[in-house]
Amino acid sequence: MRIGIPRESRPGETLVAATAKTATQLAALGYDVVVEAGAGVAADQPDTAFAEAGVQVGSAEDVWGSDVVVKVNAPTDDEVARLRRGATVISLMAPARSPELVERLSAAGVTALAMDAVPRISRAQSMDVLSSMANVAGYRAVIEAAHEFGRLFTGQVTAAGKVPPARVFVVGAGVAGLAAIGAAGSLGAVVRAFDVRPEVAEQVESMGAEFVTVDMEQEVSSDGYAKEMTAEQEAATAAMYDEEARAADIVITTALIPGRPAPLLVTAETVAAMRPGSVVVDMAAANGGNVAATVTDQRVVTDNGVTVLGYTDLAGRLAAQTSQLYGTNVVNLLKLLTPEKDGRLTLDLDDVVQRGITVTRDGETLWPPPPVQVSAAPKAEVAVTAEQEKPKVELTARAKTFLVLGAIAVFGLVNALAPTEDLRRHFTVLMLSIVIGYYVIGKVAHALHTPLMSVTNAISGVVVVGALLQINSEDDTVLVLSTIAVLLASINIFGGFAVTRRMLGMFSKGA
Ligand SMILES: NC(=O)c1ccc[n+]([C@@H]2O[C@H](COP(=O)([O-])OP(=O)(O)OC[C@H]3O[C@@H](n4cnc5c(N)ncnc54)[C@H](O)[C@@H]3O)[C@@H](O)[C@H]2O)c1
Repeated sequence: MRIGIPRESRPGETLVAATAKTATQLAALGYDVVVEAGAGVAADQPDTAFAEAGVQVGSAEDVWGSDVVVKVNAPTDDEVARLRRGATVISLMAPARSPELVERLSAAGVTALAMDAVPRISRAQSMDVLSSMANVAGYRAVIEAAHEFGRLFTGQVTAAGKVPPARVFVVGAGVAGLAAIGAAGSLGAVVRAFDVRPEVAEQVESMGAEFVTVDMEQEVSSDGYAKEMTAEQEAATAAMYDEEARAADIVITTALIPGRPAPLLVTAETVAAMRPGSVVVDMAAANGGNVAATVTDQRVVTDNGVTVLGYTDLAGRLAAQTSQLYGTNVVNLLKLLTPEKDGRLTLDLDDVVQRGITVTRDGETLWPPPPVQVSAAPKAEVAVTAEQEKPKVELTARAKTFLVLGAIAVFGLVNALAPTEDLRRHFTVLMLSIVIGYYVIGKVAHALHTPLMSVTNAISGVVVVGALLQINSEDDTVLVLSTIAVLLASINIFGGFAVTRRMLGMFSKGA
């Protein structure tokens, strides 16, 4: 089969659905690939780059006459008319909001697969173009804000005086919001963020930002998406949005509930109360905006000197990067659709991902797909019965004292009875090691268990060497002890190899 990559027809579009690298990866799946001349120029992918990678560069006719046409934006009426009956078209389509497009695709007798309908489940992450684009857009939102902002992001103490860090407030900590938090933090800003889903607080904090809390009922989301706020929640958050935005230099809003218009969160009064020179980037502009002053695709400067950016092409402003990620998402989808790697696209509607993106199949309308339970849902709490609940072994103060006194007594006895000075010294070292080891290892954080494992493996190596040096001894006790030492240390060493093998296995692709 032949895959065609057309030049995007949307005015000002910079993106392309394949780069030289991803086109080669498509060819490796057994397809012939043809890219329309000039399709990748705005994404730093000139025709020569495709030609050098061995990818055919052809005319619009070559591309639109292909068996599979892959593009970024939804096909226009003219483009649908150019598709062959029985062909497959893959692109962003917003099928839920474009019933006329779905009708046209069906009438054209084509198979239409919507890249923006990939379900947000773990298995489909590598094909999730919306996440790829939101990630790049969140980063770019910070760059746009920094470009407009008249001061530094990072705090400094210079010979010419102290510079305070910029204060950034991010609303909505989904993919775009977290990317914005990361970018603003790495530029040195002090970042605060809010999301209606309380479960994202940990992610926000792990990126170095402070999670703003509001005194209200907040429900952990069951499907990874926010629900519309209740009247009480709206009232409780309104004051917080106002306070945070007034205190901030930069506000970046990303709040969205799928399938709904964006909630209005930052009012005209709040923007009017912000300091001159402050910047607001409303990433939800395409869905109506989270900020009252937003004008879609425009840069607006309010009377009080606040710049409000309503750009909807933030991902396209990093065209080379976004095209590369989009192209890779397409390759991952085609890997799924070409299980035999034989250049033949097969659609398996029993697979939730493939069913989820299928808008039409050979002209038959299959939109909307059945709902998919997304994996972000928290696991149901398993009720623990009284029998299952094992009592924790906790020592009382009395038992602890008893144990310590017992250990001291054994220590004194062994020292008194030890026939040689050497044995006494070794025994003292052993006892001290046990005590220090117990406290040190017991306090190692979970995140440091891997380095701890390497250290114990190294110690086991030393133990084996020491025990092998002693194993020739005439003394039976030394012989038995060194044999036991070799055995125990070997378990740790070989166990280490086994665990490493299992961990590496998690990263290797199945045969
Ligand atoms: N401007 C651009 O160029 C561009 C590019 C890509 C994405 N976007 C937009 O960015 C936005 C975010 O995209 P995403 O992929 O990160 O979505 P997402 O679903 O991952 O994140 C949205 C977040 O908003 C939160 N939210 C919903 N209502 C809220 C409220 N009232 N207050 C606080 N938080 C709330 C949700 O809990 C969620 O975490 C979308 O509007 C998307 O269309 C814009």
